[in-house]
Amino acid sequence: MATFTVRTATQQYDAIVERNAIARLSEFLPAKVSQIFVVTTRDVWEYHGETFQKALGARVHHVLYFPGGESNKRLREVEALAEQMMAQGADRASLVIGFGGGIVTDVAGFLAAIFLRGVPVIQVPTTLLGQVDAAVGGKTGVNLVSGKNLIGSFHQPLAVLIDPDVLRTLPEREYRAGLYEVLKCGVIRSKELFDLMAFRSADVLGQHPDVVQKIIEESVRIKCEVVTADEKEGDLRRILNFGHTVGHALEAETEYTRFLHGEAVAFGMNAATHLAHLTGSLPLAECNTILNGIELYGPIPKLDGIGADALLARLGSDKKTLHGKVHFVLPVRIGEVKVMSGVETGLVRQAIDAALAIR
Ligand code: GLY
Repeated sequence: MATFTVRTATQQYDAIVERNAIARLSEFLPAKVSQIFVVTTRDVWEYHGETFQKALGARVHHVLYFPGGESNKRLREVEALAEQMMAQGADRASLVIGFGGGIVTDVAGFLAAIFLRGVPVIQVPTTLLGQVDAAVGGKTGVNLVSGKNLIGSFHQPLAVLIDPDVLRTLPEREYRAGLYEVLKCGVIRSKELFDLMAFRSADVLGQHPDVVQKIIEESVRIKCEVVTADEKEGDLRRILNFGHTVGHALEAETEYTRFLHGEAVAFGMNAATHLAHLTGSLPLAECNTILNGIELYGPIPKLDGIGADALLARLGSDKKTLHGKVHFVLPVRIGEVKVMSGVETGLVRQAIDAALAIR
């Protein structure tokens, strides 16, 4: 069991990593909540709804189903959820709870951020990706056809309750997709975490409880530390985007239908690692160690039909593009990265081509 705290200029809250953390939900409800709206998907509710309802006790709550999937992470779904809240008599003392994977917590958080100009949200992530990344740190939003998460807001939750036990019902592909975000945390900030992922991959893939608890704790610790230092991504928080520049391009190019977010990030990390070496930032041995680490948790779905040109064209509409310059987060060693812009297009193409060569 571990508790990590996010401190921002306006708020402080805990991310709790603990078996059966959901049972503690009532401790975090605001004193004067009028109605509770649980945003979830039907499958999550089927598996864990009973536990959730027990945790809420006699408190009246409404369950709002989101259809799930990255291609439904759109404004129209947020509007539909908001209409349902209004129909149930929601007011400014209402609370939203995001109960699902990273897509659900992004959508629920954004709904809470804009509903009646803002109501509180508690995040209860049920996928590894949601637990180690999406649900912590207050980034909320939806996709545009033009790109990933291009509409959104920072809306910090009241708490994040992370129960590693819920991962047992997670499809293996979803679990592996989350493991890439764990690897990301290792590369950007913790060689110890990277080594754990590299040397104990069988235990990680087999969901050995102590190892799962450890990788979640270490990732959440890093996330809380980074968000506390730089909530609005003015500087340090950009390191969390390792793998996301090219990863987002891949997701948009494939219309959010072929790759899970974590898989696209794995592809992006592969390209960024090659790029780090090509730009002279990362020695070959470390480059290969990172690439091998990513491969341990692969393969990602086939990349057939995807070309470097299309991905390069997408990079300009990423929100990390500033003043027309694409930013890349590049490792300099395992546990440390730097942000680089103005990288020669020829090198970016070479790096993407190298990543596209994955079988
Ligand atoms: N997922 C990256 C961030 O929260 O900043």
